[in-house]
Amino acid sequence: MHRIGVVGAGYVGLTTAACLAHLGHDVVCADVDDAKVGRLRRNEVDLVEPGLAELLEQHDIEFTTVFPRDVDFLFVCVPTPAGERGEADLTAVHDVVAQVPENTVLVLKSTVPVGTARGIAHQQTVSNPEFLREGHAVEDFLRPQRVVVGSADLDAARRVAALYGDVPVVLTDNTTAELIKYACNSFLAVKLSFVNTLAELCERVGADIDGVTEGMRLDERIGAAFLQPGPGWGGSCLPKDTRALLSTAREQDVEFATLRAAVDTNDHQVRRIAEKIEGDRIGLLGLTFKAGTNDLRDSPALAIARLLDGDIRAYDPAISQEVDGITVVGTPEELADGRDVLVVLTEWPEFAELDWPALAGRMATPVLVDTRGVVPADKVREAGFRLVSVGRPD
Ligand code: UGA
Repeated sequence: MHRIGVVGAGYVGLTTAACLAHLGHDVVCADVDDAKVGRLRRNEVDLVEPGLAELLEQHDIEFTTVFPRDVDFLFVCVPTPAGERGEADLTAVHDVVAQVPENTVLVLKSTVPVGTARGIAHQQTVSNPEFLREGHAVEDFLRPQRVVVGSADLDAARRVAALYGDVPVVLTDNTTAELIKYACNSFLAVKLSFVNTLAELCERVGADIDGVTEGMRLDERIGAAFLQPGPGWGGSCLPKDTRALLSTAREQDVEFATLRAAVDTNDHQVRRIAEKIEGDRIGLLGLTFKAGTNDLRDSPALAIARLLDGDIRAYDPAISQEVDGITVVGTPEELADGRDVLVVLTEWPEFAELDWPALAGRMATPVLVDTRGVVPADKVREAGFRLVSVGRPD
């Protein structure tokens, strides 16, 4: 087993550190944020990520603000935020690269623009993009569908792949590995935008999107996942990575029309959903960009809220404090009090099992907009709601 350094204790870095420790490696995890390191030393984790806190508790990981030098492998898990034109800010990555000791394998896990590794002089640089879904990060790390390792130094790449145990491996060069990451997230975005437009068409022609996607899912060439229409796709990855790939394509004079359309469609989806929400007193069920996380970054719920006029409140099982000037209440019942409309924006499973008659009774006008297709339509209508859906005629 090896001594491994992880730089960055965000959701990717912490998951990487915890899972590598779980696989038997000796792990030191560094972050520049003193307060965060202090909390991690006390076993306090501020991320909602199933299984992560347990692994951190179970394994002895050293948390530090000091750059880890005495390691065989150094995983770079620092943020690469998008600038205004979609270009990634690589300051944090370059800071790490500047400090990596000569005989340490540098593992680039942060999502970096295509061609970044090629510009790094360090000999043993391995591009090893992450494919961790928030809410499933631990299982995605420990039981990956594939591990991608790209390097000019194939021996270093093989050694990085071996750290994960017996897993399917794609062994390639740095630039291809970097592009795989963007290709995956961008393809998922295209798929979702396709379905969201299909849902709009269903509403017009009187078809049912669930039936349409059921018919699509059974075709293995299309695949069963990522066919659920919603308020638009968000989060810290899909919006950023689609913009970055478009930016790379533009630099190379490549017209990536399908991806451009997917991004435009997503903006349209947010506006289209906002137009479905009528009333002055609005209650939002869900604020996070998807269920199973407390992450609000690039959440479509917040983008939609910004387009609404009126008094907005929200309930979200993972959020307890005011967000963007939106008052957050403690229960769905409290949310319903005196509201003109409730809007399901995140697919939290508990939203399928609310006490509909009780909620309807508390509202000024019982209207429910379900952007995620999670509520039981019959029960909701029986309780007296007017139900507005995405992908089904009202
Ligand atoms: C995404 C990818 O799925 C991961 O493979 C990748 O590693 C990660 O980005 C990353 O780059 O780090 P994540 O951002 O956690 O993971 O979120 P997803 O589960 O992909 O969901 C993205 C958005 O699509 C969410 O807003 C979600 O609600 C929406 N979505 C997803 C739908 O509207 N419908 C679906 O059927 C699926």
